[in-house]
Amino acid sequence: MQHERVLVLDFGGQYNQLIARRVRDLGVYCDLKPCDMSAEAIKQYAPIGIIFTGGPNSVYGDKAPRVPKEIFELGIPIFGICYGAQLIAFTLGGRVENAETSEYGKREFTFVKDSPISSGVPATSVCWMSHTDRVTGLPDGFETLASTDSCPFTAFGNAALQIYGVQFHPEVVHSEYGNLILKNFLYGVCKAKGDWTMANFVEEQVSALKTKLKGKKVLCAMSGGVDSAVAATLVHRAVGDDLTCVFVDHGLLRKYEAEEVVRVFRDGLGMNLIKADAGERFLSRLEGVSDPEKKRKIIGAEFIKVFEVEAKKIGAVDFLVQGTIYPDVIESGKDKSAVIKSHHNVGGLPSVVDFKEIVEPLRDLFKDEVRRVGTELGLPEDVVQRQPFPGPGLAIRIMGEVTREKLETLRDADYIFREEIRKAGLEREIWQYFAVITNSKTVGVQGDFRTYENVIALRAVTSVDAMTADWARIPFDVLETVSNRITNEVKHANRIVYDITSKPPATIEWE
Ligand code: XMP
Repeated sequence: MQHERVLVLDFGGQYNQLIARRVRDLGVYCDLKPCDMSAEAIKQYAPIGIIFTGGPNSVYGDKAPRVPKEIFELGIPIFGICYGAQLIAFTLGGRVENAETSEYGKREFTFVKDSPISSGVPATSVCWMSHTDRVTGLPDGFETLASTDSCPFTAFGNAALQIYGVQFHPEVVHSEYGNLILKNFLYGVCKAKGDWTMANFVEEQVSALKTKLKGKKVLCAMSGGVDSAVAATLVHRAVGDDLTCVFVDHGLLRKYEAEEVVRVFRDGLGMNLIKADAGERFLSRLEGVSDPEKKRKIIGAEFIKVFEVEAKKIGAVDFLVQGTIYPDVIESGKDKSAVIKSHHNVGGLPSVVDFKEIVEPLRDLFKDEVRRVGTELGLPEDVVQRQPFPGPGLAIRIMGEVTREKLETLRDADYIFREEIRKAGLEREIWQYFAVITNSKTVGVQGDFRTYENVIALRAVTSVDAMTADWARIPFDVLETVSNRITNEVKHANRIVYDITSKPPATIEWE
């Protein structure tokens, strides 16, 4: 079934992914596409509405992205946000000017005229502004719908053409009624039915996967991460035992993690799961190696080799399942072709598997949607909400050489840290939190004895996409408990430090 869909044209603003997410959260499927899409391509795509996002440019800039006038003649409702609104005014013959000062932050604004987009919104409320240019004259046929003290055309529109523009950002939470305004556009203007729900998605995907994969041999590499776990579960729901999952335990996972994968997927869901116990093999290859990039390369290469051995045992397959998600597709700059996750532990897999086609059942979804699909499929919360974990695992959280003893110390310390964060109810606020075993030993005193043991660092960051990150302001009493517990319960650790560096200049991981 073809869902009704909205097209979000991306003009480069920082909140664009958020706009797309909001639309989907409101029950309407949408795609974020580059802003240079032609009117003909848009017509083919057949959206029920188009949203122009914000962007960093001025409409007068040399390289400013523009849109062909024909887009406005397609009869498809359009909603412009910030730059998108200025572009509407500019393209249709209104006036846009550069203001002397930028307007940034919360502003009170007032609807001066009723329109479909203001339905249910109080006359005066707060919105979030972030702009320098502003609309100073409307195109013919348009009227002012809302204004602030300093911005007369905060919202404007043309009901006959079903074209609306807002200078503020309805997608950010600081715009009190932003979500309602977006909803009004979708349901009041575009007449959406709201056919995008997770239950629908799961049902349709399972049925489509059944048709496509029934009776074929399907293989999936499970990493223990959310994406591959959800992708595998979806495919398993469709084809059952025709799916074989291979899970490579490289011995560098967190405490109890490998056991949990087996418990949830093999014992719980009855999946045909092969666990390759390759810990010894990885550790011996890592002996004497302390350079982080060398460690990464060894682990990556070894992972492929182990997987290849398992894949050979299975023989040729028809399909290889990948947990590619929408942001991976967007990052690749195109939205076609199988994007092989490169910054990932299953990077070079396809070359060693004899398969005909790649299946990516999650390629239309954002991360939080993937988690919701996981929940819909009945996966446990701790699998669905798992924090990102690097492919090379604990090897890049052990500074210098990886040894069995350091691994054990790190696993135990990390487990305590995670447990205390969970007890404090902080796990949803923090993007990643983990322990690192530094390459330093310090003197301590435990009981009547002097000790000379490892310094453990705790790392916890907040972030939205891991590109930048801030160190998490964890309450001191939580840190105190963690420190006491690690020094009391974990062997070979006598000093705990907390990393208070953001990214940049540091990275999230220590290596
Ligand atoms: P950094 O440390 O570069 O990490 O700030 C950004 C994000 O990427 C993860 N990361 C990796 N993931 N293989 C992976 O699959 C790697 O080699 C790797 N290095 C870092 C890191 O955990 C964070 O989420």
